[in-house]
Amino acid sequence: MKALILAGGSGTRLKPITHTIPKQLLPVANKPILFYVLDQIREAGITDIGIIISPETGPYIREAVGDGLRWDSRVTYVPQSDPLGLAHAVKTAQDFLADSPFLMFLGDNLIEGGVKSFVQEFDNQSPDALLLLKEVPDPRLFGVAELNGKGEVMHLVEKPKEPKTNLALVGVYLFAPEIHRAIAQIKPSWRGELEITDAIQKLLEMGKEVRSHILTGWWLDTGKKDDLLEANRVVLDGLLKRDVRGEVDSESKVVGRVEIREGAKVENSTVRGPVSIAEGCQVRNSFIGPFTSIGASTTVEDSSVGHSVILENSRIYRIERLEDSLIGTGVELRKADERFKAVKLFVGCDSSLEL
Ligand code: DAU
Repeated sequence: MKALILAGGSGTRLKPITHTIPKQLLPVANKPILFYVLDQIREAGITDIGIIISPETGPYIREAVGDGLRWDSRVTYVPQSDPLGLAHAVKTAQDFLADSPFLMFLGDNLIEGGVKSFVQEFDNQSPDALLLLKEVPDPRLFGVAELNGKGEVMHLVEKPKEPKTNLALVGVYLFAPEIHRAIAQIKPSWRGELEITDAIQKLLEMGKEVRSHILTGWWLDTGKKDDLLEANRVVLDGLLKRDVRGEVDSESKVVGRVEIREGAKVENSTVRGPVSIAEGCQVRNSFIGPFTSIGASTTVEDSSVGHSVILENSRIYRIERLEDSLIGTGVELRKADERFKAVKLFVGCDSSLEL
């Protein structure tokens, strides 16, 4: 069994941050989303992993993941020249995949509990495809599946205007090599992409067996700012353990599940978990509230921050209430005008804001 991670695409919905950082490398609880995906693939026992990369983001992904040794795996990079769809990505990876069955995992999706049981189910039952589905409030944003009374997949539509069910396709799929023959028969959709949903629908028309598995745990598609903040909240809430390795002075209070990594310093401040403070951060005369992640070497001074993700090497000075915010790397935020109290911001990398 091989795995194919899709980490190409353009990340339009997370601009301006994705001008400089691929969305699959954005951190959730101070760890890139793609690393959770790699952890889960490894945990399912798969070590031969292909990663689809785009010309713009490929160098960043290669630098972050390297040859895969960290996961005790072998990583093969598969460049895709344009984001022409998920099925196009599979087509592009045909040399890597050869005639092996494979797990396909969208590199910006997070799933509670991993994919091990799902891979075992595929191994035991050997269908032509096994799909992971999840009930969602607004299925129009996703690929949508219709099942029959026995739970077998009958029909699939990509982002329907009038969905027949609320069962969305989660970005995790298992395929037998038959999928390549289905992809060879489909045409680009109205949005100009070769859709994997259409290829699976083609498998059904070819009389192949398509099974599904309904996910009960959380699934986070980190495509937009609020999705990323929500992913950060859910992961901090569910997975973070108290682990204080940095320095905390006697004037400070660290309450609940808080991670303070090596080289970080907390002075005259209160940190109320769940919060993750990465290596080399400086927090001075500040309050850091629940569901916040602060990236490596960032400084927060005379400020109050809550429910936010701040990336590396940023400086936050005298901001009375920074909340529901996503702040890029190398950003400087500084209050100059007393009228500014609470702010909600989405700021790209290397910016400077005087409020
Ligand atoms: O998130 C689940 C949804 O993902 C499914 O419900 C849909 O059926 C499926 O089509 C897909 O929809 P999105 O429109 O959300 O896909 P997106 O364009 O965001 O791409 C998903 C990932 O795949 C992302 O990490 C970028 C990567 N990708 C995307 C395209 C179009 C590639 O590597 N190559 C591509 O050509």
